[in-house]
Amino acid sequence: MVKNIAVIRGDGIGPEIVEQALKVLNRIAELYGHTFSYTDVDMGGCAIDKYGDPLPDSELKKCVESDSVLLGAVGGDKWNDVPGPKRPEKGLLRLRAGMGVYSNNRPAKIWKQLADASPLKKSIVDKGIDFIIVRELIGGIYFGEHKTEGDTATDILKYSETEIERIGRIGFETARKRNKKLCSVEKSNVLDSSRLWKKVMHRLAEEYPDVELSDMLVDNCAMQIVKNPAQFDVVVTENMFGDILSDEASMITGSIGMIPSSSLGSTTCGLYEPIHGSAPDIAGKDIANPIGTILSAAMMLRYSFDMSEEADAIENAVSAYLDAGYRTADIMSDGMTKVGCSRCGDLVLENLKKE
Ligand code: IPM
Ligand code: MG
Repeated sequence: MVKNIAVIRGDGIGPEIVEQALKVLNRIAELYGHTFSYTDVDMGGCAIDKYGDPLPDSELKKCVESDSVLLGAVGGDKWNDVPGPKRPEKGLLRLRAGMGVYSNNRPAKIWKQLADASPLKKSIVDKGIDFIIVRELIGGIYFGEHKTEGDTATDILKYSETEIERIGRIGFETARKRNKKLCSVEKSNVLDSSRLWKKVMHRLAEEYPDVELSDMLVDNCAMQIVKNPAQFDVVVTENMFGDILSDEASMITGSIGMIPSSSLGSTTCGLYEPIHGSAPDIAGKDIANPIGTILSAAMMLRYSFDMSEEADAIENAVSAYLDAGYRTADIMSDGMTKVGCSRCGDLVLENLKKE
């Protein structure tokens, strides 16, 4: 197959982690006879420096016209004083909205090799951690009006039934393919938008009688994720709650550096990115963990290009790399061999075999 991938290296550790994922994609192309061509896209702080805009229309266009987008990370202290509408993160939000990718899928799965890296007690980890957070990505407080007047600042949190219903369906469909348990997370004891969320989820539940729907308040969910993560199969939630809970969920699996994500809308053109940030403090030192980005590339193959064998090959190579005892600094533990970012990429390549 021939696929055109838009590549956003971004800021901080973005370029080094993306480089490793491209190595892996190139080897997949060789092994399976595909052609991947790459279109470079500037977004984030680097685009502010170059164009004075975190995502100019011409760059967004390249993404929308691609078969899918691979993104490293954006942002950094250097652009902290840039006003809100021109911040690097604004580029990312514009990209998500411009691509219409309303459904963000963030797996929280513990690799058996990394059980010791989890900050949770062994008795909790041993019960298993394997769930997915389905986060609404282009609505809610992120996209409501933001304004500051005098000494008062306002951010509007708004959801329509249509927006809730389309992400709700993804939640139910995802649960249907797994253990058929969907937990809808909201704050319906306080927020109108959450009461609407809950109503729509229950209406949808009638169409998915095979899926068991439960409701949970977001503060309780934050607690349950550390108390008993084994209870979750699929969690569906709004944009900001999903942002916060997915950081928490990633941490109990050992490291945020290991977690990929996919964002999809109504077409197969998706956005694939690790869930961590640009980590400017370790940028350029060749110590970042590129696995979240490598696994994001695997998700791209699986969900946008229908290449599940190729995706399995990448995931197995990552597992073999961990089995061999190699660890980047973020997940380093006694008795393991510490490696840097590019060596990690090379070792994943060494373990990559046609399934
Ligand atoms: C994420 C990030 C972004 C978000 C930031 C960088 C805008 O934290 O992808 O989780 O809040 O969505
Ligand atoms: Mg986040």
